[in-house]
Amino acid sequence: MKSVIIYSSKNGTTKRCSQILAQKLGDAELLDIKKAGGLSLSGYDTVMIGSSIRMGQINKKIKKFCDENAQELLNKNLGLFICSSMEENINRDFNANFDKSLLKNCRYRAWFGGEINLKKTRGIDKFIIKMVVKVFEKNENKNLPQINEKNIEEFAKIMSSK
Ligand SMILES: Cc1cc2nc3c(=O)[nH]c(=O)nc-3n(C[C@H](O)[C@H](O)[C@H](O)COP(=O)(O)O)c2cc1C
Repeated sequence: MKSVIIYSSKNGTTKRCSQILAQKLGDAELLDIKKAGGLSLSGYDTVMIGSSIRMGQINKKIKKFCDENAQELLNKNLGLFICSSMEENINRDFNANFDKSLLKNCRYRAWFGGEINLKKTRGIDKFIIKMVVKVFEKNENKNLPQINEKNIEEFAKIMSSK
């Protein structure tokens, strides 16, 4: 049976993480949520869905997709992942953005790390991200976020195991 990774990415980090995941899985289709309109999940047994977090929220189209396909997703080998800068908020972010039933029924969920890219960020987003950087700079124990390949590897291993 087939596998699909459906992602949303504003500045490219979640896209890169999804590509790494696809490489590790070997046989998964990769689909930007922007191109997932009308997608039927009936041909897939494994569905992996990921988004970055902005102001505590996942992408609206990912949320809509999960709502519209909620019933069908409950019968899939389902994996959920998030890219964000603050690992310490990951449980709160999952709980605030995905339905309880999906969280309960998903095979695995994970944080794939994040990146802060000032060059790619504009306007109000740049203002916000500069504040986030300041929080990291103030805290000596906190390194700027990076993509977490180990977590992606673990996710791939669990999602592809029987
Ligand atoms: C405007 C803005 C708001 C953000 N808000 C959050 C947030 O609330 N929590 C968090 O952990 N990370 C936050 N981040 C960090 C992003 O989740 C992180 O940079 C991620 O790697 C972006 O992935 P993407 O390029 O796929 O969109 C924010 C980033 C931006 C630019």
